[in-house]
Amino acid sequence: MLKNKLITELKNYFGNDKKRIDHALKVTEYAEQLIDQFKEKYPAKNINEQVIIYSAVLHDIGIKNAELKYNSSSGHYQEIEGPPVAREIMESHNIDFEMMDEIAEIIAHHHTPGKIGSNNFKLLYDADWLVNLPDVYGLKNKDKNEIKKLIDKVFLSDIGKELARKEFL
Ligand SMILES: [Fe+2]
Repeated sequence: MLKNKLITELKNYFGNDKKRIDHALKVTEYAEQLIDQFKEKYPAKNINEQVIIYSAVLHDIGIKNAELKYNSSSGHYQEIEGPPVAREIMESHNIDFEMMDEIAEIIAHHHTPGKIGSNNFKLLYDADWLVNLPDVYGLKNKDKNEIKKLIDKVFLSDIGKELARKEFL
């Protein structure tokens, strides 16, 4: 598992941008929780833990170049700028090509659900939303019913919905 090496790369890349680093670390923690719960609930189904965890660490890596090049941190530009930076980092750690392609694909679509149907994608996507939901949707000003509906709409996996209900209801 190269998780810690990739975290070091992440920290070097973002430098003193602590907010971005903390976000990626929180998403990675949630991704690990989701993986554990998925394995418990669906022991027969396959997920690739390395793909999910490496994607979690690197998923927002495009934000820096998006801001530099387009003066925008919008999801669209992150999806364009993320994969080449992530590939460069992964290549330097000799991650195999197939895995690298899958991770780059996940990063390229992590704001665009529906294009990749794999459980690896869904768990990374849901881990990101577990971190982002309270701020993006202002949960403080919503009642339980609204939050329930929101969780059903936003999260892609049963496991993600379950953990979201536990965290936010
Ligand atoms: Fe994110």
